[in-house]
Amino acid sequence: MTVHFIGAGPGAADLITLRGRDLIAACPVCLYAGSLVPEALLAHCPPAARIVNTAPLSLDQIIAEIAAAHAAGQDVARLHSGDLSVWSAMGEQLRRLRALNIPYDVTPGVPSFAAAAAALGAELTLPGVAQSVILTRTSGRATAMPPGENLAAFAATGAVLAIHLSVHVLENVVADLTPHYGADCPVAVVWRASWPDQRIVRATLGTLQTAIGAEMERTALILVGPSLGDSDFAESRLYAGDYDRRYRPIGTAPRFPEAK
Ligand SMILES: C[S@@+](CC[C@H](N)C(=O)[O-])C[C@H]1O[C@@H](n2cnc3c(N)ncnc32)[C@H](O)[C@@H]1O
Repeated sequence: MTVHFIGAGPGAADLITLRGRDLIAACPVCLYAGSLVPEALLAHCPPAARIVNTAPLSLDQIIAEIAAAHAAGQDVARLHSGDLSVWSAMGEQLRRLRALNIPYDVTPGVPSFAAAAAALGAELTLPGVAQSVILTRTSGRATAMPPGENLAAFAATGAVLAIHLSVHVLENVVADLTPHYGADCPVAVVWRASWPDQRIVRATLGTLQTAIGAEMERTALILVGPSLGDSDFAESRLYAGDYDRRYRPIGTAPRFPEAK
């Protein structure tokens, strides 16, 4: 018996890995975080599967569901939105399973920052403009930020910020970032990336709040940084015609003469 933690992707039901889909189809028990996981994914469950929405359950109740499946020798598909490496609450479940000697494995998913960038048609890391992306959030009612992890500190690096769980405090986000990036810095907010009701607002830090207006659905990602608006960036050296590389040796004395 194994608990399969599966990244369910950002919303569109076909943005799950083939491995994740096949594991759902093979498990007689499916636990899913109903707040963000698309119900359409449950269509992959076998006909008689036990399907439990864990949104209203406590951690103790979730572990009790898993322990019951373990006692019955039944594999479990455990679905969380996006990828499991960020803000999934997987860590605490894995710790409990290790203590109970219940086997598990993890299948990654498409994270929401990648779905939002795709919706924008944007590469976040452009040569000479930005080469780092910081995945972060602001303090919430249930989770305080550790000391030192704050928007001003991250903004001081000039990296692209992908700010989760924070659209409800947009005014504070803009106030914290403007001194570092400037009011002209491009910003995009993507609500429910890849869902049928996806919404995108592109603006600058200075114009964002006016551009958004009153409508503030909570599931949104805020992307901030110069690469979101820049079209005047250098092409990458990797694909330059004169760049001698292992897969494309150039000239009479290539750096990797044996390479194919
Ligand atoms: C609990 S976190 C889950 C993050 C998820 N594990 C991931 O890989 O993106 C929920 C937050 O992720 C972001 N998010 C999740 N799905 C999203 C989507 N489809 N579009 C935009 N933002 C999304 C929002 O900031 C939301 O408040």
